[in-house]
Amino acid sequence: MQLNHEIIEKNTGLLVILIVVAISFATLVEIVPLIYTKEVNQPLPNMKPWTALELEGRDIYIREGCHVCHTQMVRPLRAEVERYGPYSRAAESAWDHPFLWGSKRTGPDLARVGGRYSDDWQREHLINPQSLVPESVMPSFAWLAKNDVNPGEVQAKMRLFRDHFGVPYSDADIAGAPDAVQGKTELDAVVAYLQQLGTAMKGQR
Ligand code: HEC
Repeated sequence: MQLNHEIIEKNTGLLVILIVVAISFATLVEIVPLIYTKEVNQPLPNMKPWTALELEGRDIYIREGCHVCHTQMVRPLRAEVERYGPYSRAAESAWDHPFLWGSKRTGPDLARVGGRYSDDWQREHLINPQSLVPESVMPSFAWLAKNDVNPGEVQAKMRLFRDHFGVPYSDADIAGAPDAVQGKTELDAVVAYLQQLGTAMKGQR
């Protein structure tokens, strides 16, 4: 045994190959069962599809790069759970294409931010973050209040989410979507999107 280990340690090529084999095997053991486990890839029972306005808000969130500074994934560590709330479950992201977990936190995690502040707070914070949090390095997104949501695209987006990702939109949801976003600003949409984040996990939705 002693001797065999010495052979591996002194042979870099062999060592690298064995490391790759070990890591690949461990990765498969972690990932493959998750792909086939229903509880992790089915939506939570009380999850509701985004409304037309929330869906538009999600797209603006992506366009503005909010996910570059904010994660939407609470890790299962005590410090995180105490600060943000229940850690994120895979099931919560069943409809999230692309998922917005993010990888960098310049600002706080937003996975549980829904309902933490009033709509007015969120509006003011997006227009002028420093008026509420003086030390904030978050930039102003004041133009969101001036741009109207384009009601022309929302139906196509909802159909895409229904047909490709299994989001249970009814025909009535889709038919009523343009009216639901008509006359709303992009700020209304982002605030609506933020206010629903994490609410399914908190049993509020
Ligand atoms: C350059 C990095 C950066 C970008 C981009 C950014 N933020 Fe922030 N955000 C921050 C920082 C830092 C904070 C913490 C200070 C504060 O509250 O302003 C914050 C705080 C927040 C909070 C309050 C969270 C809490 O729990 O207190 C919300 C909500 C928020 N951001 C939403 C957004 C949205 C929506 C966008 C995109 C339109 C966005 N942020 C873009 C850096 C950023």
